[in-house]
Amino acid sequence: MKKILAIALICMLTLTGMAMAETLKMGTNASFPPYEFYDDETGEIVGIDAEVAAAICEKLGCELEIVDMDFDAIIPAVTTGKIDFGMAGMTVTEERMQSVDFTTSYATGIQVVIVKEDSEIVSVDDLFAEGTNHKIGVQQGTTGDLYCSWDIEDEGLGTVERYKNGTDAVLALTSGKVDCVVIDNEPAKNYIAANEGLKILDTEYAVEDYAIALAKDSELTEKINAALEELIADGTVQAIIDKYIVA
Ligand code: ARG
Repeated sequence: MKKILAIALICMLTLTGMAMAETLKMGTNASFPPYEFYDDETGEIVGIDAEVAAAICEKLGCELEIVDMDFDAIIPAVTTGKIDFGMAGMTVTEERMQSVDFTTSYATGIQVVIVKEDSEIVSVDDLFAEGTNHKIGVQQGTTGDLYCSWDIEDEGLGTVERYKNGTDAVLALTSGKVDCVVIDNEPAKNYIAANEGLKILDTEYAVEDYAIALAKDSELTEKINAALEELIADGTVQAIIDKYIVA
């Protein structure tokens, strides 16, 4: 009898243990293809970040839950513990490093300028030229927003219009509310493919590193970083990138 009870107890514990596989919550902003976007058919968030995060969680034996939020809400959600990590094509910056820790970088991003095909803006330098006054669309709280605020708005060379996401910024460009949009290159390619009459300027604004953001001194950082580094070393990350970005 005792033996049966003991076995029953072990079974119960194993079952609850299994059901309780830790879930890691990833915060992202899912209008940023090919890093994160909604799959039209399944309605799920897919993309490079979603897949790399899934591979990390698989290595750690955790479940993954992806939470969609405004981009500028991600870091506060990380620091207050609402989410375990932020992964959103997020650029490593000195400023963000004051409030979060970053993993090793897993991808490169480039800030580029999207304009209408017939735009008089032909090079990034046109945005900084003496006496210009352009309206620049950006996604609020991104590095594109920061750079344009510093380089253009603060210098009196134009105004920055901030939108909740890249899609809205591009919509403002097609409807003539702004003269250009400064945003990361891979989403930019997706946006111009989806909207006629737009192009990306050849000159680049800035080159950056993407990494995963975690709460400062979190125990998780080392684990996630180790898993990510293994996935970089064995080619998994590159294979995921190549699946979404066809050169
Ligand atoms: N790389 C830029 C930044 O870190 C933009 C990232 C926007 N990401 C997104 N999922 N909407 O500021």
